[in-house]
Amino acid sequence: MSKELAVEMLNISMKFNEKTYANKNVNFSVLKGEVHALVGENGAGKSTLLSVLFGIYEPTFGEIKINGIQQNISNPIVANSLKIGMVHQHFHFVEIFKLWENISLGAEIKKLKLFNNKKQIIKKISIIMKENDLTLNLNKLAKNASVGELQKAEILKLLYRDSEILIFDEPTAVLTPLEIEGFLNVLKTLKNNGKTIILISHKMKEIEKVADRATVIRKGEIVGTYNMNEVSIDDLSVKMVGRNLKVIKNTHNFKGEEQVLKINNINVTSINNKKIQALKNFSLDIKAGEILGIAGVEGNGQSELANVISGLQKVKSGEIFIKNIKINDKSIYSRFHTYKMSHIPLDRQKHGLILDFNVLENSVLQDIGEKPFSNKLGIINKYEIKKRGLKIINKYDVRDSNGGYAITRSLSGGNQQKLIIGRELSRESDFILIYQPTRGLDVGSIEFIHSQIIEAKKKNKAILLISYELSEIINLSDRVIVINSGNVVGELVGNKINYDLIGKMMMGNN
Ligand SMILES: Nc1ncnc2c1ncn2[C@@H]1O[C@H](COP(=O)(O)OP(=O)(O)OP(=O)(O)O)[C@@H](O)[C@H]1O
Ligand SMILES: [Mg+2]
Repeated sequence: MSKELAVEMLNISMKFNEKTYANKNVNFSVLKGEVHALVGENGAGKSTLLSVLFGIYEPTFGEIKINGIQQNISNPIVANSLKIGMVHQHFHFVEIFKLWENISLGAEIKKLKLFNNKKQIIKKISIIMKENDLTLNLNKLAKNASVGELQKAEILKLLYRDSEILIFDEPTAVLTPLEIEGFLNVLKTLKNNGKTIILISHKMKEIEKVADRATVIRKGEIVGTYNMNEVSIDDLSVKMVGRNLKVIKNTHNFKGEEQVLKINNINVTSINNKKIQALKNFSLDIKAGEILGIAGVEGNGQSELANVISGLQKVKSGEIFIKNIKINDKSIYSRFHTYKMSHIPLDRQKHGLILDFNVLENSVLQDIGEKPFSNKLGIINKYEIKKRGLKIINKYDVRDSNGGYAITRSLSGGNQQKLIIGRELSRESDFILIYQPTRGLDVGSIEFIHSQIIEAKKKNKAILLISYELSEIINLSDRVIVINSGNVVGELVGNKINYDLIGKMMMGNN
């Protein structure tokens, strides 16, 4: 790492509307060859700041220097020409194209100026992969690739374009623990190869592992920049949220009797491959007031389990009951209304929100046709919708820049997630299916959401918690089931729940 500056953002302000600054008088600089973390609460202005650097937004005020020279980065093409590349919070791929086609899209090597020179393109990508310790099947269609593979393809897109300054917006939020290890290693290699890396992340442990320095941003303004060997991750967290944090834990005072969810011997095929059995003679039950955690390596049947309960997929055989009523063949609508289910889905943008609706509308999404939000004639009661929406916004600290009327797409990722959680925990329900609730949330929001899940339990709701964050499962569950290849391989109750035992069961050594 040299002392030369790769990036200087000077006095940057960014306003999307009259009311709020997303960034205010920000001074942010990055040294050549360092890994620099940008951290802050959901909605603090991290993605906005780096989108300004990448030319997606023109700042309201301020200037940017790249390698010491002032530049007007009016769009991403200019950013690319300055060797700046960005991997966004949500990926962009042409699904029916192969990965090599996606990687080279718009920068293809041509044959006779007309056709893509597949051989040359693949050769170029292969050399880059070798230099950076990356392996990827380039002939896979994007729609068949895993999130981890798509991310590698995103990184290759940047390297293919010779980017020197690499911006990552929450790269590990959607990865499995194993993929995260791989990604952090790739980051180290990129750094060793001289790249400058800017990393947005909420995961303090990862930042501790890879970052040289970290800048904290709060409500659009810079709090400070710190050398990672001079600051603890607890200090950083306090600087981010402005208060001390505590770990929320289930006290296991559970005496519930009434069975709410019962799953009896279900067999379910894999979402990706109909020939594979994702769940095999799988059974579980959850009582009112109980949080049942599902632990296991991703891809061992968790998504299929969530799908058959929420109605997105059908079982091949077996039964699912809510309060003794078989719901296998019930519509998604009736599961939510008649059988009183709530659902915090894995993919917030696909299954949790309508991004072009405003926040108030999304806050009552499944219930908009029900009382009190609509009357018998189907006439919508805007007053009631606003009342509920504002209650969720206030309680769950959903940061929307326009009093509930902002288009949901404009919310920061974490705030979209808080909106879904607020909606689902505020609905009248007996059973809540929760899948990776704190993905993309800041450390303060995680603490709050965990306390709200415990509150829901205290209100006697039955909760199924599927998560790949083992600490989340351990802290919140009354009981934990460990699954492997679609089978239950272990169960732990109350004070017996601990890392070691779950870890061993997950690996199949119990
Ligand atoms: N296109 C947009 N239009 C209007 N407001 C926006 C837009 N993009 C972001 N904002 C607002 O700017 C603020 C900062 O958002 P930003 O996405 O930068 O936050 P973030 O720090 O990246 O948060 P997260 O950790 O949740 O991703 C938020 O209040 C957000 O609602
Ligand atoms: Mg963001």
